[in-house]
Amino acid sequence: MSGAIRSCGRVLVVGVAALDRIMELDVYPPEDTESRALAARVEAGGNAGNLARVLCLLGHRAELAAVFAEEPEGRRCAEALEAAGVGLGPSVRRPGRQPVSQVWLSRRNGTRTIVHHRDLPEYPAQALPDSSPYDWVHFEGRNVADTQRMMDRVAGTATVSVEIEKPRPGIERLWHGAGVLFFSRVYVESRGFRDPDAFLEAAAERVPEAILVCAWGAAGAWARTPRGELHHAPAWSPGPVVDTLGAGDTFNAGFIDARLRGLGVEEALRHAVRIAGTRCSVHGWRELAAALAGTGLNEGESP
Ligand code: FRU
Repeated sequence: MSGAIRSCGRVLVVGVAALDRIMELDVYPPEDTESRALAARVEAGGNAGNLARVLCLLGHRAELAAVFAEEPEGRRCAEALEAAGVGLGPSVRRPGRQPVSQVWLSRRNGTRTIVHHRDLPEYPAQALPDSSPYDWVHFEGRNVADTQRMMDRVAGTATVSVEIEKPRPGIERLWHGAGVLFFSRVYVESRGFRDPDAFLEAAAERVPEAILVCAWGAAGAWARTPRGELHHAPAWSPGPVVDTLGAGDTFNAGFIDARLRGLGVEEALRHAVRIAGTRCSVHGWRELAAALAGTGLNEGESP
């Protein structure tokens, strides 16, 4: 992949922005105990927020369509994303409280344990801007009725992808509006599959025209093309796994980045695995920026 041409895309990302309250621990604590964290920080997160932020790091123009609460935490979240280069023009403000995630990172095991709370309204379909200026529109698979309406509206104007992460009622309806589907391991297992490749083959019967992608942690990632080719990329890491928060969002951003640069599905899969592996080897988003700049991965290159 070295020597790939650097080119920017304009991407609209639709989904949630949350405030992540992160505690770094040596190891996740037993219930009803008291312990001291090694480090603590607050970051803007949420699947869509993370994905948009990583796309910016990779040289694209990413704009986020999310809801921000009209209160200090909502403003803090919005300001952090703007500082990371994410455009918030398509986002809306509503009274209420910003969605918040309490996150515990275990340094010893590299796990992230997340408890999420939200009571803010979902992004309203009628607020979605005209999609014609965008090269790619990505949706977090949630709020099915409105998301389906938005996917119908953008169909044919840009490449459309959707993340199917959590098993939610009716989420299968969203399979049909996208050219690229990102399935999570949690979702695949909830459908009774233990192997991503078997799941992708079964899914292809329902959406044969789409590129189907599935990341599987330490086992790497799989993708199936509309021509029936199944690709696997082994996991890759430049060092020990220390922080997996947002690794899936980072993987999805890496895949979109590679496709926007014109790479094939197999190369895009390898590229996404490398970007996600880099994410897992550093603490937080600021260190990711430095790590990507140091490897050339933010210019479509492999190390
Ligand atoms: C990571 C993440 C966090 C967020 C939580 C929401 O994938 O997006 O940043 O708070 O998941 O479920």
